[in-house]
Amino acid sequence: MNVPTNCCIDIILRAALFLLVLNAGQASAAEGDPAAGKRKTVTCNGCHGQAAMKSVPSLGGQSPAYFVAAMIAYQDGVRTHATMRDVAKAWSLQDLKNFAAWYAEPLAPAAELAAAPPSSERCVACHGADGRDAVSPDVPRIAGQKVNYLEQVLREYRGGSRLHAVMQQQAADLTDEDIAALARYFAGRAGLQVK
Ligand code: HEC
Ligand code: HEC
Repeated sequence: MNVPTNCCIDIILRAALFLLVLNAGQASAAEGDPAAGKRKTVTCNGCHGQAAMKSVPSLGGQSPAYFVAAMIAYQDGVRTHATMRDVAKAWSLQDLKNFAAWYAEPLAPAAELAAAPPSSERCVACHGADGRDAVSPDVPRIAGQKVNYLEQVLREYRGGSRLHAVMQQQAADLTDEDIAALARYFAGRAGLQVK
C-alpha cells in the first residue's frame, strides 16, 4: 500500500469529520439488562460460543452500540448474511440491548503479538490504539477478533458485498497482503473473546 502523506492527512480529517457526525447522532444506544440477555443466548452459543467456527465473529467485549447497530443492519437487510438476518428478525430493540449488555464484557488478554503493519496506522484513528479502545461506541472493537473473520470482512468491504461508506473507502486500496497482515495484527491484540 503506497500512499503519499497528504493522502493520510486527508483520511484523518475525514475520520474526524465522520466521528463528529456520528457522535451528534447517538445518545443512548445501550441500556440493556445483561442477565435478561444471557437467558436468550442458547441459540447464539451454538455458533458464537465456538472458538472452532472461524468465520463466526467473537462477541465477548464488543461495543454495545455497535452490537445493536449490527443487529438492526441485519433486520433492515443492510447486512445480508442469511442466517444472521433470520436470527436478528426474532428480537425486539430491548432484546437487542439486553444481548449487547451481556456481550459487552469481558476483554481477553493478547493471544500473540505480531508487529503493527504500516497499513494499520490509519485504522487506529477510529478503532483506537491496538483496535481495542475505539474512539466512538459505534465503531466496533476489532482487537482479538478471529483472524479469518477479520480477513473475510475486509475483503467484503473492498469488494462491496458488505456496505459501509467509510469502511469501503478504507478497504478500497488494500492488497491481499495488507489484509492478511492487518487481520493477523488485530487478531493478536488484547480485546474480544469467544463468549
Ligand atoms: C448459525 C450460526 C449463528 C447463530 C445461531 C447466531 N449467529 Fe450471529 N453471526 C454468525 C455469523 C456467521 C456472523 C457473521 C455474519 C456476517 O458476516 O455479517 C454473525 C454475526 C453476528 C453479529 C455481528 C458481529 C460483528 O462483529 O459485526 C452479531 C451482533 C451477532 N451475530 C449476534 C448474534 C446473536 C445475539 C445470536 C443469537 C440470538 C446469534 N448471533 C446467532 C453466526 C451465527
Ligand atoms: C473513519 C473511521 C474508520 C477508520 C479509519 C477505519 N474504520 Fe473500520 N470501521 C469503522 C466503522 C464505523 C465500522 C462499522 C461498519 C459497519 O457497521 O459495517 C468499522 C468496521 C470495521 C470492521 C468490521 C468489524 C466487525 O466486527 O464486523 C473491521 C474488520 C474494520 N473496521 C477494520 C478496519 C481496518 C483494518 C482499518 C484500517 C485499514 C479500519 N477499519 C479503518 C470505522 C473506521
